[in-house]
Amino acid sequence: MSDLLNRLQETVAFIKTKVNVQAKVGVILGSGLGNLTEEVAVEVSIPYAEIPHFPTSTVKGHSGKLLFGKVGSTPVVVMGGRFHYYEGYSAEQVVYPVRVLRLLGIETLLLSNAAGGVNPDFEVGDLMIINDHISFFTENPLRGKNEETLGTRFPDMSEPYDKILIAKAHAIAKAHKIKVHEGVYTAVTGPTFETRAEYKLIKILGGDVVGMSTVQEAIAAVHCGLKVFGISVITDIGIREDENVITHEEVLQAAKAAEPKLATLFKNLIQTL
Ligand code: HPA
Repeated sequence: MSDLLNRLQETVAFIKTKVNVQAKVGVILGSGLGNLTEEVAVEVSIPYAEIPHFPTSTVKGHSGKLLFGKVGSTPVVVMGGRFHYYEGYSAEQVVYPVRVLRLLGIETLLLSNAAGGVNPDFEVGDLMIINDHISFFTENPLRGKNEETLGTRFPDMSEPYDKILIAKAHAIAKAHKIKVHEGVYTAVTGPTFETRAEYKLIKILGGDVVGMSTVQEAIAAVHCGLKVFGISVITDIGIREDENVITHEEVLQAAKAAEPKLATLFKNLIQTL
């Protein structure tokens, strides 16, 4: 058995000693979006630090707990805080929890993030459903020996984000009068925000938003057969030519302000699963 599979099985075995609900849906919450956990009737909470082989979260705005519970009648497992490549974790470590959730039996993964707006139609506080991504600026998490029990060596990426989930999210947004865009998420490593020239380049390449997370997780999720839904909260406008200084505090504040809309969307989407 490969070292990766060995570790995954140890992690999963540990979690199974603490939890006996079978979650169908996994949720990974982005920067400043951790309060979404209030929508979850939590049954078991496991600090990352206690989970064998799990990395530990170091970023402000991330709580670092794996939460098992229900949203409505749907059993979920929520990662309050994710691991970012810019923190120094390897790409394999960043996606490790996704694989754990898969081996715990989830079928669908919902991802949220704070992102910089590149599409000129976007405003701070808007939501964008991710319908595709550009991963070329980041390391592919599948680099290295392929673990065949998880998925194939050369996975198709023609449709990483599930069309049915996207359609459902649009219907929910419409019913709740929540403005949503749809577009392409461009992944960068961070931790620097982009230069003006970089934002301009991303726009030319076809990116609608840019951010430092999500895509490695989405790739690993598709690799191991999960259905993926991703959504970005626009926390700053990257393509603005003037006054283009961006701070982490501003990002967290904008995420917090938009969080209720995201909570409504996720809560209702989960209940359809
Ligand atoms: N760029 C990259 N990552 C981000 C941004 C941004 O402008 N805003 C929030 N995360």
